[in-house]
Amino acid sequence: MIKERLCVLISGRGSNLLSIIKSCRGKDFPAKVKLIVSNNPNAFGLRYAKQYKIPFKVITKNFENTLLKQLQKNQIEILCLAGFMKVLSKNFIDLFFNMILNIHPSLLPKYKGLNTHKRVLNNKEKESGCTVHRVDGKIDSGEIILQSKVKIAKNETEASLENKILKKEWTLYPRAIKKYCKEIKRYYWKIGGTA
Ligand code: GRF
Repeated sequence: MIKERLCVLISGRGSNLLSIIKSCRGKDFPAKVKLIVSNNPNAFGLRYAKQYKIPFKVITKNFENTLLKQLQKNQIEILCLAGFMKVLSKNFIDLFFNMILNIHPSLLPKYKGLNTHKRVLNNKEKESGCTVHRVDGKIDSGEIILQSKVKIAKNETEASLENKILKKEWTLYPRAIKKYCKEIKRYYWKIGGTA
C-alpha cells in the first residue's frame, strides 16, 4: 500500500502526535509520519520523535521558509497541525496546496480560538467535542472532516472537560486522516492520475 507522507506540527505536549504515530504504524493505515516539526525547542512531544526514531526539526527563526524547504526535502504530502500554536500565513497555506489539517477542541464553527472549555461552560452548553478540519487561512476555519461529541456533566470543570475531549481527539484525528487520504485518492483517480 502506498502511504501518504505526513508531517506533524506541534508546540507542546504532543498527545495527538503520539496517537497519529501509533495509528500510522498499522499496516493498513494510509499514511506515515515522515517528519515532526516544532516551533518550541522544549515541546514535550519531541520525545515521541526520538522514541519512534522519526526525523524532527525545531524551527525557531524564519519559520515558514525553513518549513517549506523541509517539506519539499521530505516530499511531504499532508501537514497535520496538532497543538501547533503558531498561525500560518495565507500565502504559506496556498503554497502547500491547502493540504493542511488541524484539530480543535470544540464543535466548530462554535468556539474558535483559545479558552474553549471555559467559554463552553460559561454558556452552559449541554455538549461539546472536537473537530478535525482543513485549514483555510482563518483561525480554526475550513471544511470540516470529522467531529466527535461529548456530553457535559452537571459538575463538569474545565479540566474534566478538557480530559474528556482530549481522549476523543486521540481517535478522531487518525480517523480523519484516514478519511482525508481516501478523499485525496478518489480525487486523483477522477483527474486521471495515479494514487
Ligand atoms: C488539543 O486539545 C488540540 O485540540 C488543541 O491543542 C491541544 C493539543 O494537545 N489544538 P496535544 O499537544 O496534542 O497533547
